[in-house]
Amino acid sequence: MTRTVGLVVCAAGGALEATGGLVAPLVAAGHRVAVTLTPTAAPWFSPSDLDSLARFTGLPVRWQPRLPHERSPHPRIDCYVVAPATAHIVAKLATGAADTQALTQVSEALGTATPVVVFPRVNAAHTRHPAWEENTARLRRAGVRLVEGPEVWPLHEPRQGPPTRSLPWSHILAAVEDALRAAPAL
Ligand SMILES: Cc1cc2nc3c(=O)[nH]c(=O)nc-3n(C[C@H](O)[C@H](O)[C@H](O)COP(=O)(O)O)c2cc1C
Repeated sequence: MTRTVGLVVCAAGGALEATGGLVAPLVAAGHRVAVTLTPTAAPWFSPSDLDSLARFTGLPVRWQPRLPHERSPHPRIDCYVVAPATAHIVAKLATGAADTQALTQVSEALGTATPVVVFPRVNAAHTRHPAWEENTARLRRAGVRLVEGPEVWPLHEPRQGPPTRSLPWSHILAAVEDALRAAPAL
């Protein structure tokens, strides 16, 4: 049975690698992928990147909300994955500020049977922010699967991480597959 993964890509390092790191392996595993970018991440993608992503997934790439008279261009989602997630989107998800299409759809899934996987692509400074602990604890309590930890994503000070480190795509993929196995078929 084909499952649909809703991928949200934020304006963080590695955003442009999400096509090779997540979309391609998910499609190869037989899943459909509906991609939404945050409005800040959208201009990071060239028009030809966006075209190829839409052609490859067979679905439009979203970054804006639909108009009231329009239907959603994406199908029903079986599992959301936010990768890379910025510190900013983690804070907004945790506090319920849903002012973009990306945030609206993931916020609506919190507390439902639709699983949500988040990979916070953060640095040590982001996690020292006084709201970080409570924000991530809130998301965990809401059932969000956070892909994190020193073995998965060691924290570095801002601009001091290894210049060419890729995101932990295999861990993110494993979390999505695990969430899909546990999720009821819609
Ligand atoms: C080149 C560049 C790289 C960035 N990388 C990160 C990052 O890895 N993690 C992060 O939390 N923010 C990062 N930021 C900051 C976010 O882009 C910024 O907070 C933005 O408002 C996030 O918007 P979004 O969460 O809606 O995508 C980066 C900004 C720039 C310009």
